[in-house]
Amino acid sequence: MAHAIVIGAQWGDEGKGKIVDLLCPRVDVVVRFQGGPNAGHTISVAGRKTFLHHIPSGILHAGKICLLGNGMVIDPRGFLEEVNSLRAAGIDLKGRLFLSDRAQIIFPHHRDRDGLTEDDSAQKIGTTRRGVGPTYQAKIIRVGLRGADLNDPDELRRRLAAARRLDPAWPPGEEDGGLEAIMALARDYHRQLAPYLDDTTSRLHDLLDTGCRVLFEGSQGTMLDVDHGTYPYVTSSNTVAGAACAGAGVGPGVLQGVVGVFKAYATRVGEGPMPSEEHGEKGDLLRERGHEFGTTTGRPRRCGWFDAVAGRHSVRVNGLKLGALTLLDVLDVLDEIPIAVAYDTPAGRSKRVPASVTQLAAARPVYEIVRGWQQDTSECRSWMDLPQRARDFVEKLEQLLGIRFAVVSVGPDREQTIIRDAAALDALFA
Ligand code: IMP
Repeated sequence: MAHAIVIGAQWGDEGKGKIVDLLCPRVDVVVRFQGGPNAGHTISVAGRKTFLHHIPSGILHAGKICLLGNGMVIDPRGFLEEVNSLRAAGIDLKGRLFLSDRAQIIFPHHRDRDGLTEDDSAQKIGTTRRGVGPTYQAKIIRVGLRGADLNDPDELRRRLAAARRLDPAWPPGEEDGGLEAIMALARDYHRQLAPYLDDTTSRLHDLLDTGCRVLFEGSQGTMLDVDHGTYPYVTSSNTVAGAACAGAGVGPGVLQGVVGVFKAYATRVGEGPMPSEEHGEKGDLLRERGHEFGTTTGRPRRCGWFDAVAGRHSVRVNGLKLGALTLLDVLDVLDEIPIAVAYDTPAGRSKRVPASVTQLAAARPVYEIVRGWQQDTSECRSWMDLPQRARDFVEKLEQLLGIRFAVVSVGPDREQTIIRDAAALDALFA
């Protein structure tokens, strides 16, 4: 039995939710393995908009089991709001939604610290201010709290006493009174989360043993990976395909297929280098046509051209052979479409993403310009429906990246999807 991972191959917001939604009917279980409330999907259920940040959109597919893995950071308040809005929309969650008791818990002081650090311009990353970074920091310095710890008063007291000394997020000026307040909050979180807390690692393996097919859903994107992205302008977790093993508790043999989701141009939210960013009217056009405003923060996204240098890096670090290309229709009105095929750097022309953020900021993209198709593609439903020049563009990207796009998306709706290679998608879970 094969299982697959869907990851973002650029700077996040590639349209992973739509691809997960497309693959859901082929699987029994959807697992998230990193990140937390920094991710975001807007979905319409029964005519009302629901915002999901922790819970995979697979929850909308009746009967699918959704696991929030140990690699995640969970804000109990936000998670419970999502649960309530799904319930209000009539979604039955019984026996379908489980939260790892090994996942780290975000406390209000982690959120506050994220905001304070962002307000200090010397440290500004442009985070989502959801407390994600400070919570991963507490995890790594071994003073974080996990679901399993919330109802263990002695361990909780020991851990919080250590956190008070070591966790830079600990509320300033708070002494023992602060500890008691956080103890009380932890107990309250436990009471509310208890119906969902679970050993998701064992549950996942039990499901695998019974022959269930599993989809691992990544969040953010490869260029935001804490190791492989544009450090320090990154999120605080590994977002690459390999992170699914550690973040869900499976060996690499379980994961055979990886689908890398790319959009047909580039976007980024927050600070950090983005060599193919387009500041002028064309950038505004991409933002307007692509509705490029963040789901989690509402911030306008920075827009630019497809960066095949960053794309190739992503193909390599994720082991991609298969991709999904989204938002192709956004380019419909353009007469010319630049693609960044190399960088000019102070050290010469290069097809590599430099590790140094200073060098990457100094890199100038070398563009290859392809002719646009200037036709509406949003009604196209098969590969041959696409104008020849749109097909040429997709094939050009495939050649630059060395992968095949099995799916091409031409609009936000489910139907606005071209399945170019159904056999490759079937093979993911064969
Ligand atoms: P954090 O994950 O909130 O710490 O933010 C770190 C960086 O990752 C910032 O540049 C954010 O804008 C970016 N980021 C985090 N989550 C997402 C996402 O889901 N989509 C796009 N960018 C994200």
